[in-house]
Amino acid sequence: MLDIQTTATAVPLSTPHIIRREDYRPPDWMVPEIGLDFDLGPAKTRVTARLTVSRNGGHGRPLVLEGETLTPLAVRVDGQAINDWRIDDGRLVIDLSGDDHVIETEVELSPERNTQLMGLYASGGLLCTQCEAEGFRRITFFPDRPDVLSRYSVRMTADKSAYPVLLANGDNVANGDAGEGRHWAEWNDPFLKPSYLFALVAGDLKANRDSFTTMSGRTVELGIWVREADVPKTAYAMAALKTSMKWDEDVYGREYDLGVFNIVAVDDFNFGAMENKGLNVFNSRYILADADTATDVDYDNVQGVVAHEYFHNWSGNRVTCRDWFQLSLKEGFTVFRDQSFSADQGSAAVQRIEDVRALRGSQFPEDGGPLAHPIRPDSYMEIGNFYTATIYNKGAEIIRMIHTLLGAEKFRAGSDLYFERHDGQAVTCDDFVAAMQDASGVDLSVFKRWYAQAGTPKLMAAIAHDADTKQATLTLTQLVPPTPGQPVKQPMTLPIRMALFDRATGESGGEQLVVLDTDTTTLTFDGFAQPPVLSINRDFSAPVVLETNRTEADLAFLAAEDDDPFARYEAMQQLMLNTLVAAISTGVADHAAVIKGVGETLSDGALDPAFIGEAVVLPSDAFIGDQMLVVDPDAIATAREALRLALANAHLAKWQEIYAANGGRSFEYSPAAKGARRIRNVALGYIMAADADAGAKLAFTQFGAADNMTDRLAALGTLANSQAELRVAALDIFYRRYRDNALVLDKWFTTQAVSTRADTVEAVIELAGHPDFTLSNPNRFRALVGAFGMNQRSFHAADGRGYAFFADQIIALDPVNAQTAAKMVPSLGRWRRFDAERQALMRAALERILATPGLSKDVFEQVSKSLA
Ligand code: PHE
Ligand code: ZN
Repeated sequence: MLDIQTTATAVPLSTPHIIRREDYRPPDWMVPEIGLDFDLGPAKTRVTARLTVSRNGGHGRPLVLEGETLTPLAVRVDGQAINDWRIDDGRLVIDLSGDDHVIETEVELSPERNTQLMGLYASGGLLCTQCEAEGFRRITFFPDRPDVLSRYSVRMTADKSAYPVLLANGDNVANGDAGEGRHWAEWNDPFLKPSYLFALVAGDLKANRDSFTTMSGRTVELGIWVREADVPKTAYAMAALKTSMKWDEDVYGREYDLGVFNIVAVDDFNFGAMENKGLNVFNSRYILADADTATDVDYDNVQGVVAHEYFHNWSGNRVTCRDWFQLSLKEGFTVFRDQSFSADQGSAAVQRIEDVRALRGSQFPEDGGPLAHPIRPDSYMEIGNFYTATIYNKGAEIIRMIHTLLGAEKFRAGSDLYFERHDGQAVTCDDFVAAMQDASGVDLSVFKRWYAQAGTPKLMAAIAHDADTKQATLTLTQLVPPTPGQPVKQPMTLPIRMALFDRATGESGGEQLVVLDTDTTTLTFDGFAQPPVLSINRDFSAPVVLETNRTEADLAFLAAEDDDPFARYEAMQQLMLNTLVAAISTGVADHAAVIKGVGETLSDGALDPAFIGEAVVLPSDAFIGDQMLVVDPDAIATAREALRLALANAHLAKWQEIYAANGGRSFEYSPAAKGARRIRNVALGYIMAADADAGAKLAFTQFGAADNMTDRLAALGTLANSQAELRVAALDIFYRRYRDNALVLDKWFTTQAVSTRADTVEAVIELAGHPDFTLSNPNRFRALVGAFGMNQRSFHAADGRGYAFFADQIIALDPVNAQTAAKMVPSLGRWRRFDAERQALMRAALERILATPGLSKDVFEQVSKSLA
């Protein structure tokens, strides 16, 4: 048998156990204090845990401590070794006579054999932990659930030369020499916390150190810990951390509470980053950034993720979740907070466009597919599968709607009340909404349906006009689609920001907020001699799919005139979508309106170049597919390329002018410089479309001359999509330059995996055999396989080779890293959206995965739900 730590959790010979929200019961035993002693080593780590336990309520049930892959080497109760403990499905069960006891257990772990990256594991010479959601039970026996809050004291002993730095949560209270080349450190965390926020790190790390003075004048020592050579790449993350700390004080009144705040970067990590109390652990891709290796998108991600994890100190740590069904309590709120923060650091309009694009790109498909779930799910098999775009991104939209309904001031009063009421507690989404409601006086009872109902509502907005009465009539109708397990829905509360424009003057009477919480409503507006132009769901005030009866002329008007930048962007996107969908369904393409709109946008001197860069980009293949009854990847590609070519040719001189005007400056990371790079690289893509030879030369020159990764990678991507001979040379140069930099090498894999070229399936299959491809690093796997699963053209190649390759990879990864493998399944799970042939091929791939012996419950849940 394989080592237990490298095999996935329990083999689903029968269907794995389903955990239901309605079954919640308070814990039988509390653990007010825990002392942990780690004798650390990569091959063997001994963990001794000392728990003070107290009976919660007047029951007679035994103490049940969760354990996964653990064997107790010793169990003591009140200092006495006992033998009458038992193991039941991995859990340690101990009968206890009194109400208060001290329990000690000892276990041994092998961090270097822990490929699941949950619990204590080795990564690039470090030893580190990941406990959310249920990793602590792989470290020690414990009631590993978020409503058990404990005070932690931690002692670590390790080899001094291999692990000179020993970090854990809270404050470092003592250090010493342990003899034989070993040393020890003790850390105490004064705050009560759930086990999922526990962390330790041991390694040969160097810190970028700084400090922050809080609003009440306390000094916080800040450290970002990385390999020595990477210290210069932490400057941007440090600046982002300090800006975040200040922002949370200014905007939410939240002050940091410990004397130390540490961040550690690790290379092998299942997610983006983790908000462990006082010791955030990051995937290195969200910490390390410099001009030579990070794109502007990477810089933005570093800033956003640093802020996100820092903000969790209040929204997540000081006030945490009662159970994992409440995950969006901390994640939706914290994503809303980090989005607001990022909007304040640069262009709010571009931030909103990016956030909505991410929502539509990942959450809408989830909401419309077999894995749809409300932001507060009712059941799960494996909680690791519920770290989804729905919990995070839709969750954030729901908090944003509360903000819209209450207004900034009352929202702040609500958040103040929430933190004041629940500091130090593990609470529910109901508690959050109650605080918002109590502080504002706004009734949110109907609004709460957003927590219970899955599916993206469709909002139909029909505008009519009566010339005699000079009245405009707006009829709003909503439809919440059925989703798995939820055939019938009630209407949702939709806060809709809208404005009506006079098409002669270009003026509107200002924006108003309409709240729709019934199936349909009709509103009338007086004083319109001419039919007004409807601007609706401005700033994307409700996360819905909008359908309107606006004409092409209306959309063109809004694309040129709307004073809400998001609505303006949307009008252009809608115009593009209408054109593309018409071309696909009728076979006849009329590009005139889009050409005109793009031309006007390009020459509007009042617009921010960063905004223009977003507004003139065509909707993605995937988003176009979402508008179709049956997705036809080939027809989408053909229509999109035709429109791209038309835009490229019609405005060639303009693209060239933009390209020339926005180059030639040396790298600077500022909103203006970023905007210039963005629009210039968009222009490069269009120039390439219009003239492949000249474009390839231009791209290759840019590739060689670039002093930053944004320009270098944009040029490489343009070439990688092309038939140009220079393509091979560029990929080769890039590889040789960065082969020792894992994060940049990931970009090399991704660039090829997302290529629009016809031979991408073969290229990707070959790359999976490349010596630098590995199943043991999640970033690398996502860079190749995950990215390929998003490639709407090659993944869906009609012969099914893309699907087969993808299934092979999931099957190969599952025993190594079940959590990361399960994250891949949704690409295949969308089979119902495709034609009969593709459906059969995708189903066959899913069925092959399901038939794999020893499948993890993570993958089992995703695949079985996808086939249901
Ligand atoms: N809680 C982390 C975050 O959102 C995400 C995470 C989940 C990280 C599970 C690791 C494991 O910031
Ligand atoms: Zn989070």
